[in-house]
This record gives sequence, C-alpha cells and structure tokens, in this order.
Amino acid sequence: MTDIERLKARAADIAEKETRHLLDRTPGSKALHERALKSLPSGVASNFQAGDPYPVYLKRGSGSKVWDVDGTEYADFHGGFGVNVVGHAHPKIVEAIRAVADQGIHFAVTTETTVALAEEICSRFQLEQMRFVNSGTEATMDAIRVARAATGRDKIIKMEGSYHGHHDSVLFSVVPEADVLGLRHNVDHEGKVWYTTQPTSKGVPRALWDTVIIVPFNDAEAVEQALKDNEGEVAAVILEPVMMNIGLVVPKPGYLQGLRDACERHGAVLIYDEVKCGGTIAYGGTPERFGVKPHLAAYAKAVGGGATIGAFGGEARFMEWVGKGAAQQGTFNGNPLSVAAGLAALTKVLTRDAYDHLGKLGTMLAEGCQRAMDENGVPGHTMDLGAKGCVSYRKEPLTNYRDFLETVPELFYASFSWMINRGLFMTPGDEEQWTISVQHTEEDVRKYVDAFGEFCVELAG
Ligand SMILES: Cc1ncc(COP(=O)(O)O)c(C=O)c1O
Repeated sequence: MTDIERLKARAADIAEKETRHLLDRTPGSKALHERALKSLPSGVASNFQAGDPYPVYLKRGSGSKVWDVDGTEYADFHGGFGVNVVGHAHPKIVEAIRAVADQGIHFAVTTETTVALAEEICSRFQLEQMRFVNSGTEATMDAIRVARAATGRDKIIKMEGSYHGHHDSVLFSVVPEADVLGLRHNVDHEGKVWYTTQPTSKGVPRALWDTVIIVPFNDAEAVEQALKDNEGEVAAVILEPVMMNIGLVVPKPGYLQGLRDACERHGAVLIYDEVKCGGTIAYGGTPERFGVKPHLAAYAKAVGGGATIGAFGGEARFMEWVGKGAAQQGTFNGNPLSVAAGLAALTKVLTRDAYDHLGKLGTMLAEGCQRAMDENGVPGHTMDLGAKGCVSYRKEPLTNYRDFLETVPELFYASFSWMINRGLFMTPGDEEQWTISVQHTEEDVRKYVDAFGEFCVELAG
C-alpha cells in the first residue's frame, strides 16, 4: 500500500465513524429535513445547502458562533459562504436594520442611504459608477450584459473551474459545483474528464455553448491566443482574480496586468468577479491587494453585511450603457433594508483596522493547520488572504483547476465530519474556504487548530 492509499483508507474509516456520530447527535436536523422534503426539493433552499443524507440545520448565530436546531454550539468558519465577515448579529448591523424596519422596508424608489452606499462602494473599490442588484449571480450577469452591449460582441472568455453564479451565460465548465448535482466525475464521449466548454447544468440552451471560451487560470498567453483566435468577437474576459472555487489560488505576478493589456489590445472588457474577494481579501478588494484594476467588477456577499445585496460597476464609459439600452433593473435593487446593512457593514464594521485583525487571525489559522499537516505527514498546503483561507490536500499550492483535480477529496470529507463533531462549523465542499469574521477571536482559531491537529494525528495513525 502506498502512503496515499494508506491515508485514504484511514480517512474512509474516520469519515465512517464520524458521520455515524454526526447522524446520532443531530435528530433535530433529521426531523426538519424530513419535514422540509415535502415543500423544498432536497429539503433545502439552494442546492449548495444540501447534505448527505441531510445537512445540519441552523437556528441562530451570535458573534463568531452558530447553534443548530438541536442546540449544539459551533464556532462558525463556514461564514455563510463568505458573507459573514461582520460575524453574526453584529450590534451595529442590527441597529441599522432596526432603524430601517421602523421607517418602511421597501419602496422600489432610490433612497438617500442607497446613494450613500453607492458612494462608499465606488470610493472603496475604485469604481467610477455602479448599480445595485440582489446577488452575485445578478452582478456577473449584468456586468456581462453591459460588456456585450458596449462591444456589440457575444462571446466571453472564462476560466476552467470558476463559478460566477447560476445564470446561463456562465454555467460552463464549473466542475466542482457539479458535486451538488452529482456530476463531478462526468466524462465526455471519449471518456475524458470535462475540460472544454461543457455545461454544468441541465437546461442551459445549446445555443450558448459557442459563446463561452474556456481557458486555464493563471495563463495570460492562453487568453491572448483565445482573443486572437476570436478576433472582434469577444465581449469580455471574466475571472475571479483570486480563484476561490477550487480552494484559494492566487494570481501569478504579472497575470492580471497581462489580462488587462490583452483585453485592451483586442477591445474586450476585463471583468473581475469580486463576489468573494471584494470585502474579504483586503479593504479595497483585488485592486488594492494586487494593484491591477479591471474595467468592470461584480460584488455581493460581504458587502451587504449579511443582507441580500449585489452590485457591479467600473468605468463610466461602460456603465453608461445601462442608460443606452442595456437592461439593468430590478424591483429590489437598492432595497432600504439591504443598503442600510451594507452601509453599516462597510463604514462602521469593515474598517481598515478590521482587516488587520482578519489577516492576523487568518495567518495564525493557516500556519497552525500547515504545522499539523507537516508534523503528521499529511500531504497538503494552506492558503490565507484576509478573511479567507483554506487547507488543500495537495502538497504544492495550486495554480489552476487541473491542479485542484490532484487534491485528495477523501481527506477533506473525513476532516469535515471530524471538525463539525468538535464544534467547528465548516463549508461542506473541498472547493470552499473558511471565512473569519471581525468577531472571531484567537480562542476560536486555537479551537480550530487544535481539532485539526488531532485530526491529522488520527489520520497519520
Ligand atoms: C465567485 C462567485 N461569483 C458569483 C457567485 C454567485 O453569487 P450568488 O450566490 O449570490 O448568486 C458566487 C457564489 O458563491 C461566487 O462564489
């Protein structure tokens, strides 16, 4: 037996034992799942919330903690998929929401607070203009529409393995997302793992396949080549500048500038999907952390302080197209409740100091996990950027999606049940990351590192 086979066998034993324990101690979740199955497919509000055989259902959250429907407390490292950088029930966010609730929750008319949040987002993320939407999906959808309107072109270039929401234009070659749809190991007619432009969902029109060109992340030359091969046809290059759908992959030096230059040479629009990066990796998101601005960018998640929000914006020469025939609207856009929460989050909670705290805790967490893996011969590495970070079970850092395919998901699955049984609430997939909040403490991080250290010892046998 090779070392890795031995680790996988140990991981399977751990996962089996821990999953049994998890199911034994969550009767409330089991009962709610049975009830929910009648009204909600898979018993959940979104495919990403599903669990096998059922998810742990939460009841409340406060500070860095959440409680499940059985009353068990967890330190929350799931962070609502990157939303909860403010933590739970932060007093400043709660106060802002309460004040709005008393004065009218919705008008479908722009309020002064909406304008104030637009000003804050523009100055913080270096945008000339922006518009509100209600989710990350809408943000990338509208940014792409504006790019298509401005260029008069249809095609987009997208990175292999990246996720930009669930609208039809971008549901191609998002393979980790296929986990929840049971498609991860899908192969094409020649028996190869999906690498090319392949739909990740049923129901995506066939006509759209030809509009999406897939290239590897961290390869500016591949983008230049795709732009040349499709001269005059590509509206936009869209990417997560730090790719987070496969763990956490940082851009190589020069990569982002290379993309911007290539886009300018070929008249395409560079779109950053900052849905996860914005508000987590630095006060000013990617342009601040990595120094290169896009033409347009999409935001959601952390910028709403936990409320439903999205935004996209950038250079005014592109944004002006929303007034020249590119549809950009929505009943809930700029909803008072959401913008009040977002404004409180960005101006009162997620201050520059907050990012020092997040960075310090993130590094402590990443270093602790790395040490545990190194001491026990577990093949993996850690990455951390501000509030986000992760363990990836491959010794060397990843540069693109194909590297992610070399990770060992069996080790993640064992760690998931191990950690959740020790009071650490985690995201359910190995493509996700932890999210730390301003309300997390060194004690929360120590708890994580200790439990992870024990997991590595158990794994090593
Ligand atoms: C990078 C990225 N873009 C877009 C989205 C879609 O955002 P939403 O789920 O708010 O529609 C997500 C969601 O996880 C994301 O991670």
